[in-house]
Amino acid sequence: MKGLILSGGKGTRLYPITFNRAKQLVPVANKPVLFRVIEAIKDAGIDDIGIVIGDTGAEIRQAVGNGSRWDVKITYIEQDAPLGLAHAVKISHDFIGDERFVMFLGDNVIEGGISDLIRQFASSDWNSQIVLTEVDEPQHYGVAELDNDGKIVRLIEKPRTPPSNLALVGIYMFDKTIFDAVHAIEPSWRGELEITDAIQWLLENSRTVFPFVHRGWWIDTGKTVDMLDANNRVLAELEHRVDGYIDRDSKIDHLVTVARGAEVINSVIRGPAIIGEDCRIINSYIGPFTSIYDHTVVEDSEIEHSIILDNSRIVGIPNRIEDSIIGRDVEITYSPIKPKAYKMVLGDHSKVGLL
Ligand code: TTP
Repeated sequence: MKGLILSGGKGTRLYPITFNRAKQLVPVANKPVLFRVIEAIKDAGIDDIGIVIGDTGAEIRQAVGNGSRWDVKITYIEQDAPLGLAHAVKISHDFIGDERFVMFLGDNVIEGGISDLIRQFASSDWNSQIVLTEVDEPQHYGVAELDNDGKIVRLIEKPRTPPSNLALVGIYMFDKTIFDAVHAIEPSWRGELEITDAIQWLLENSRTVFPFVHRGWWIDTGKTVDMLDANNRVLAELEHRVDGYIDRDSKIDHLVTVARGAEVINSVIRGPAIIGEDCRIINSYIGPFTSIYDHTVVEDSEIEHSIILDNSRIVGIPNRIEDSIIGRDVEITYSPIKPKAYKMVLGDHSKVGLL
């Protein structure tokens, strides 16, 4: 089997974090979501992986390289515009050839890996296997209607009146018949070739599509709150370890990771939390569900339930920072200089919540 990861797209819902950067490279518990996807596919025994890339392709190529770090072979497939998930399949035909394959959205995080699913599909003669999970607001997802025997009757993209609460998770398994489907369907009202339409075509043309209901958690990191949610869940499951330096005046618990080169001075860190390489945490409090990526400095400040990216500086902030995602090379400092006022330099699409 081969693997196909979709890492094109625009990521507009995560602006400004993804304004000029790939959303699949935003780290969850200090590891880019895309790296987690590659690892899940590799763990399932697949080492020939294609990655569909778009405008942010150069950054993805640079971060992932040829895949040797994971002992996999990576082939990049360029998509001129984000014309839909089924369009991404269409342009990957040369790479896939006649093989069965798993397609994984490059911005999805799933609990427990996909090895069992892949094994099931690889040894079956089904044309496709899709993964479903129960969600609270099915109207925002691709939704499946099943009959009493658990067979799929139809799939509908973002239905106004959902026929079930079973949403399509961003993992799909196909054989070569999917290429007939993606050539047969027309773009939807939003101008995209929809994967739900392609699977619906398989159903209507007597191909076998098998549903698998996933019981663990699954997160599509499309929006800020989803990103924080994924961060919470992965941090809670991580095996924590301390490789950095913690001074005697600091207190950390057993659910805290401190990467090599990082220093924690006169600070309290309550896990689950992760501090990246060469960070400096000084006279500060880092609360549960916080990930601080590499080379960031936090001094005289308090942060909880947040993701802070690399090379940022947060110094002397009088109020606790919570529920936040802070980008790279960001500086937040306290300025006692009069007039007493907020002084900001914020880029396009920034969001700030002030007291
Ligand atoms: P989406 O989240 O559906 O789209 P997006 O990334 O453009 O995000 P937004 O709606 O915030 O603008 O995409 C799911 C995944 O599939 C994501 O990793 C991007 C990828 N993708 C492609 O590779 N090609 C495409 O044509 C589309 C639509 C998405």
